[in-house]
Amino acid sequence: MRSLLGCIVLVTALVSDHVHGQEITNHTIDVEKVAKLVLPNNHDTRVIGGQVTTNWKLGGYLMALVYAGDFVCGGTLIHDLIVLTAAHCFLGRMKVSDWTVVAGISKLDQKGVRRKVKDFILSEKFKEEDMNMDVAVMLLKSSLRVKGIGKLSLCSVNLNPGLELTVSGWGMTVARGSGPQTLLRTVTVPIIHKSNCRAAYQPMAKITDSMICASVLGKKDACTYDSGGPLVYKKQVCGIVSFGIGCASKRYPGVYTDVMYVKPFILKSIKVLLKR
Ligand code: ARG
Repeated sequence: MRSLLGCIVLVTALVSDHVHGQEITNHTIDVEKVAKLVLPNNHDTRVIGGQVTTNWKLGGYLMALVYAGDFVCGGTLIHDLIVLTAAHCFLGRMKVSDWTVVAGISKLDQKGVRRKVKDFILSEKFKEEDMNMDVAVMLLKSSLRVKGIGKLSLCSVNLNPGLELTVSGWGMTVARGSGPQTLLRTVTVPIIHKSNCRAAYQPMAKITDSMICASVLGKKDACTYDSGGPLVYKKQVCGIVSFGIGCASKRYPGVYTDVMYVKPFILKSIKVLLKR
């Protein structure tokens, strides 16, 4: 397993795509130090091939998840008190009181509507080694029933190959003269045939039943720091940004947690959390 992981890291380092003249070298599947999954690197790694948008335009459902003052992941409001995100966002960040959910912002430096977190549940099947079941549910200390802030419902459509969904998120760019960028971006990506995705990732990563793949190879994809954010189809959250080798790679699609598949976990967790 160790050599496989080393291999992933190596290949990731080698896979360096040139999109729109920008070099995007990403280390998103450095599973040995998976905390790195949500750290910025030295290159522009925002939603790739998309456009700048506002949270308002999207519907106000996108949350910025902040840990100890640092932006870490995206999330989706699915109930006035509940946020859906990825389990890997919590690696090394298990202290409930250090989490803040920021709603209603488009630029990361905005104040927005802030909520402390009362509790969270990660799928107990989640393993950082294989990223299986990369899903988590957070309970807020007080309601986000606020003007301008919206919710998504849980997916109820089959994600057939070719179906187009929207993924949005904040990526941090490390200043290369121009200073940090904090704008929200969105891009539309089609579902990729699971068998193709499996084959592409063979033997680097196992595409499990809890995963779905989407991107336009070489052109459109989510990227580091988009993690935990929603892949959306008609006001429904159908995927959760999970991982990828590189971003907008010509070979490796973006991998998302399949919300239809993990729905039993989500519904059960909501029930448990709302009783706390
Ligand atoms: N793991 C990354 C994060 O924590 C998301 C990577 C998504 N990568 C991709 N190529 N779609 O932000």
